Amino acid sequence: MNLKGICQQVIAICQAVGQFIRQEYQNFDKNQTEYKGANDLVSYVDKTAERMLVEQLAQLLPQAGFITEENPDNKQLTDKEFHWIIDPLDGTTNFIHQIPIFSISVGLLQGEEVVAGVVLSVMQNEVFYAWKGGGAFLNGRAIQVSSSQELKTSLIATGFPYKYKGQLPAHLRILGEIMPQTRGLRRLGSAAMDLAYTACGRFEAYFEYNLQPWDIAAGILLVREAGGIATNFAHQENNLLFTGEILAANPTIHALLSPIISQNFK
Ligand code: IPD
Ligand code: CA
Ligand code: CA
Repeated sequence: MNLKGICQQVIAICQAVGQFIRQEYQNFDKNQTEYKGANDLVSYVDKTAERMLVEQLAQLLPQAGFITEENPDNKQLTDKEFHWIIDPLDGTTNFIHQIPIFSISVGLLQGEEVVAGVVLSVMQNEVFYAWKGGGAFLNGRAIQVSSSQELKTSLIATGFPYKYKGQLPAHLRILGEIMPQTRGLRRLGSAAMDLAYTACGRFEAYFEYNLQPWDIAAGILLVREAGGIATNFAHQENNLLFTGEILAANPTIHALLSPIISQNFK
């Protein structure tokens, strides 16, 4: 399979859907917000964007199945060799509150391995993409994770889950330990963009938990193809997609942060 060619076609599809999202963003009214759960927001824009992506990606690779955020029927891997894994709008809360930080994330799985990934930062028109063995790119330029070797020169991203399953005290302890040792912390509100920004070295590291596979599939490949490491909090690289936890960074910063995170989360 020509993964580079697939990536280029996925980018074109994401850009068309990105144009739709940008149009709707101008006039979006908070009253159009719907709720999937407490603090778990959605809108007609997420749902329409997903339908557009599914329709076009199905034509691109008719043999592939789908795992998508907004369709309850698309939640499991099937016996197909390939699956698209889609977050049509990652950063919905930002979108609804008119904060221009949100993305489209599309990954292609072969078995359980991500072999191609595209993250389009919609309002900035920045497209991050990678294919297995081919490297990672931002708007056509090859990208690398940060070369920073010390926490004191590092900017660290995290996320605050919609649902805490008892982990809030551990998370706050970690933030308290990391904050004084680094240049600071950021919470963008789009996990796919956190990973894309880590892949291109804007962030030295990113960690979060209670994530869904569509939040991180494309981003994991971006980080790995850009020379970084992505693991769960127990330092395991395998099956990362379905564990919901992630620590992504260059190898040195990963090694410095990993014990702080794992000790607090045990
Ligand atoms: C959310 C974003 C956010 C992360 C949440 C995700 P959504 O995705 O990625 O950064 O903290 O855990 O659910 O709901 O905007 O697609
Ligand atoms: Ca998401
Ligand atoms: Ca979403």
